[in-house]
Amino acid sequence: MCLTIPAKVISMKEGPIDAPVREIVVEDSRGERSIRAISLPELKVGDWVLYTLDLAVRQVSQEEAQEIIDLLEPRKFVDLSSLSPSFSSVLAKSFSHDLDRSDIIQLLSTEDEIEMEALFSEANTLRQANLRDFFCIHGIIEFSSNCVRSCYYCGLRKPSKDVTRYRMMPEEVVEAAVDAVDGRGYKLIVLQSGDDFDYSDDDLVEIVTEIKSRCKVFIFISVGERSAECYGRMKAAGASGVLLRFETSNPSIYEALHPGQSLEDRLELLPVLKGMGYYIASGFLIGLPEQTVEDIADDILLMKALGIKMVTVGPFIPSEGTPLSAHPAGSALMTLKVTAIARLLMPKAKIPVTTALETIESEEGRRLGLSSGANSLMFNLTPEKYRADYKIYPNKYHGKEELWEKYGLFSEELSYKMLEQKMFEAFEPEDPGEL
Ligand code: 5AD
Repeated sequence: MCLTIPAKVISMKEGPIDAPVREIVVEDSRGERSIRAISLPELKVGDWVLYTLDLAVRQVSQEEAQEIIDLLEPRKFVDLSSLSPSFSSVLAKSFSHDLDRSDIIQLLSTEDEIEMEALFSEANTLRQANLRDFFCIHGIIEFSSNCVRSCYYCGLRKPSKDVTRYRMMPEEVVEAAVDAVDGRGYKLIVLQSGDDFDYSDDDLVEIVTEIKSRCKVFIFISVGERSAECYGRMKAAGASGVLLRFETSNPSIYEALHPGQSLEDRLELLPVLKGMGYYIASGFLIGLPEQTVEDIADDILLMKALGIKMVTVGPFIPSEGTPLSAHPAGSALMTLKVTAIARLLMPKAKIPVTTALETIESEEGRRLGLSSGANSLMFNLTPEKYRADYKIYPNKYHGKEELWEKYGLFSEELSYKMLEQKMFEAFEPEDPGEL
């Protein structure tokens, strides 16, 4: 489902009040525009509407409008003429979406307030130019907290003894998904679990098949490293995307934190999945031990090289009982810089504000993320009774989700169509530089 910036009705064309379609002029932060209002007979000058594709689809109260504006309005305008020539030239270069490693390092390293504001504001403008004021709300169902891996940062790692493990039955996963789609208006759902091989390939395929047969939704799979055959079968069953982070592009950091796994295996799998036609969501963690700004620049370049369509980057958060429990959390500011640079390099990518950023910054993290180039939110749809047990890290943030769901535009067909179009655009001819 989608969310958009509200606009105020400033005039309405004369015509019968009960006409099914009326022409109206609305005003928002970017000026005035003529749009059409359908089935909103009560609408009058001074009212607020949510609109997109030149169509007013819903009336909202002034208080609701203000609440949405507070979350979604861009940051203040930055006077670029006050920037240093070298910083300005890197930003100017970003118009070609082609920054090199040293440019990225320069952007990541700045601690100057105005330079950072300029970076966020450029990213926000690009997001607006490419994706308009069109934010999506996606959902995630965490269906098993069992995991065979021992990743040093993760609270669900196999050796963790103090976590309650749960495993939803395939039918429960299907019910949760159908409820999210039919009951709450979600159009894109991530099905996530630890690397849990107690689900056979057949189980996973059956879950996808069943959900697709019961409702219209894009399904993203996030179940870790399974065989290409398993992923191929889930694709054939109707899955659209895979969410699989490479976590870090630095092989020695990767290998130090993932006993028994190799970065090479993961980087071999991602292009295979892409080749199957999956829409790839990937990214990395910020604030891992030994990670440098240079590593982060490489992480960003790797996302671009992989040709991913959804960027998922979040700060590391220490989790009790893990080998990294005493390591400090990743920086929220660095996460915002990475979000902005990813937007500069990948203007059309979907960039959700990750829960980890919201966890360290709460509602403010959500607002800052959305005004630094991110364009979507990922809400937790795990059934209440399991939710607290999916403890990748502590105190996961869930805020105002019901409120935002309420404003979610187009709980109906139109939302799916728009998403379909966006997904379709994302599959258009690939950049030559991609793997
Ligand atoms: N802090 C932040 N993110 C984490 N993840 C796992 N553990 C942590 C943590 N302690 C992320 C990983 C994984 C995703 C499902 O959760 O990047 O890919």
